[in-house]
Amino acid sequence: MCGIVGYVGDQPALDVVRQGLRRLEYRGYDSAGVAVLGPTELAIERRAGKLANLDAALADNSLPGTLGIGHTRWATHGAPTDRNAHPHTDCSGRLAIVHNGTIENFAELRDELEHRGHELTSDTDTEAVAHLIEEQYDATGADLAKAVRNVCNALEGSFVLVVAHQDQPDLVIGARRNLPLVVGLGDGENFLASDVTAFIAHTRRARALDQDQVVELRRGGVRVTDLDGNEISGEEFHVDWDTAAAEKAGYEYFMLKEIEEQPEAVKETIGGRLAPDGRLRLDELAISDEDIRGFHQAVIVACGSAYHSGMIGKYAIERWTRIPTQVEIASEFRYRDPVVDRDTLVIAISQSGETADTLEALRHARQQGAWVMAVTNTVGSSVARESDAAFYTRGGPEIAVASTKAVMTQIAAMYLVGLHLAQVRGTRDADEVRSHYRDLAEIPALIESTLTRMDGVRKLAREISTAERVLFLGRHVGYPMALEGALKLKELAYISAEGMPAGEIKHGPIALIEQGTPVVVLATRHALSPKLVTNVQEIKARGARTIVIATDGDESVTPYADHLIRVPDTKSLLSPLLTLVPMQVFAAEFAMARGLDVDQPRNLAKSVTVE
Ligand code: G6P
Repeated sequence: MCGIVGYVGDQPALDVVRQGLRRLEYRGYDSAGVAVLGPTELAIERRAGKLANLDAALADNSLPGTLGIGHTRWATHGAPTDRNAHPHTDCSGRLAIVHNGTIENFAELRDELEHRGHELTSDTDTEAVAHLIEEQYDATGADLAKAVRNVCNALEGSFVLVVAHQDQPDLVIGARRNLPLVVGLGDGENFLASDVTAFIAHTRRARALDQDQVVELRRGGVRVTDLDGNEISGEEFHVDWDTAAAEKAGYEYFMLKEIEEQPEAVKETIGGRLAPDGRLRLDELAISDEDIRGFHQAVIVACGSAYHSGMIGKYAIERWTRIPTQVEIASEFRYRDPVVDRDTLVIAISQSGETADTLEALRHARQQGAWVMAVTNTVGSSVARESDAAFYTRGGPEIAVASTKAVMTQIAAMYLVGLHLAQVRGTRDADEVRSHYRDLAEIPALIESTLTRMDGVRKLAREISTAERVLFLGRHVGYPMALEGALKLKELAYISAEGMPAGEIKHGPIALIEQGTPVVVLATRHALSPKLVTNVQEIKARGARTIVIATDGDESVTPYADHLIRVPDTKSLLSPLLTLVPMQVFAAEFAMARGLDVDQPRNLAKSVTVE
């Protein structure tokens, strides 16, 4: 949702800002704009639609200058038109601002501004902020940083603001509340962005801004303050991701590349976790053994695909540790006054680490005294910083909106977390923990092998790509994966897809099945296999076209499968790491056969920063 870039240095700002915006495209947006401080004026260009429209508008105008700000907007207040696109300006046209988030008291602020004689020309909440800063800029004697700080104190809601002023040729101001803003630290140049992918082509040194902080970005350095102007020292971090990871490398879509990257990504997540003494070591997980022994329950909060990873986490934690574990959709969690206390371990799973629902859930949990662990892919993200400890999935940047390798690495991470808890609590002995870890360590090669078998899946997806409904069934860990398979298809192909526990279908959903309805069944070998075979028979008898994902060598379900997709054998608890692959490929191919853009599905945003 909305991407923000700011730059001050010696390079042509338009190039840096546009490149940054392109890297943030994946977040989802419907208009874009830039402002560049040139020798004589602060020039602005903004356009509804994709960046290509902005590029076309800039074709004859290269906006010279070495200070710039840019924005991709995901419309909230006002339609996605040229007029509502950012940057917005004040009455003088000398100040330009871009904004992420929503200003909740904007109507009242707008009224007051209009009453005081300001003329607002868009429907946005952002424009009100530009005029408020204009007033404060005058009131503070042209102190832009102070003006922004004063205005932030008067705003309600969530925001990242990035501001440039024609009279300040060496200054970009950034401010944040509830939404991410990262500073990229260069040599004679500095950057601001919604996430690091926007500037990793220039620098890997970064610093994340905290809640209610304002940064003054100059060529020679950055200064961070709180809203009262007190200087804040902060930690710099190094970004491991490289530029290649954020590029398509010959693939038609990022999603296809990210699916192929999964063996490597899982290897990164799980690699090097056994200490010489044979014990599992999750060093970054700074929880004391005493705390771990004291937990009476665990609650996992997450959204979307991360929620499905959480469901697998529950199966693993309960099986290996016997700690009662619930998984909850983050947006529901805090509003039902959940029972969490000091002996509760709350695990917040989030690829981006910026999902507003997940953040609010973890904040609520911390207020109740719970111990919060983040499982996230993003170093320096809000979820990581606001938790007691963070476990990083090390999946590398995921650009496609629909999650693939991030889910895969989250699931792998949850197995590690489960094993670690079991080791410390002594519910599994050292040999068992080691043996489970070794099974996990074999998974990357098995994913690799699964990926080589996908031709049949692609062919099948193209063949049935006109279907308007697909059902997904699974039992035990196959159930969350059925939900994930259905979500992928919904997100990418815009058709009605439903995942459900196979045992539940006879209690209602079986009424959906008619002649030829495609039903994907996750039927890898496990204790419930005979029951699953019965479920497949039931749906087949009612005309379903059965697409069965089964373990190599298992023939129990073969007679009832119209299409058989084979995955290698592994421990049943780990099977999601393999069954995910054909479902991802199936959804992507299905959507591509319908001519859809699988990287940026309609209406969706990669990082959903509103509740
Ligand atoms: C959005 C994305 C989903 C993602 C969910 C949670 O809805 O479109 O793909 O699973 O957010 O994102 P997170 O970054 O918290 O894992």
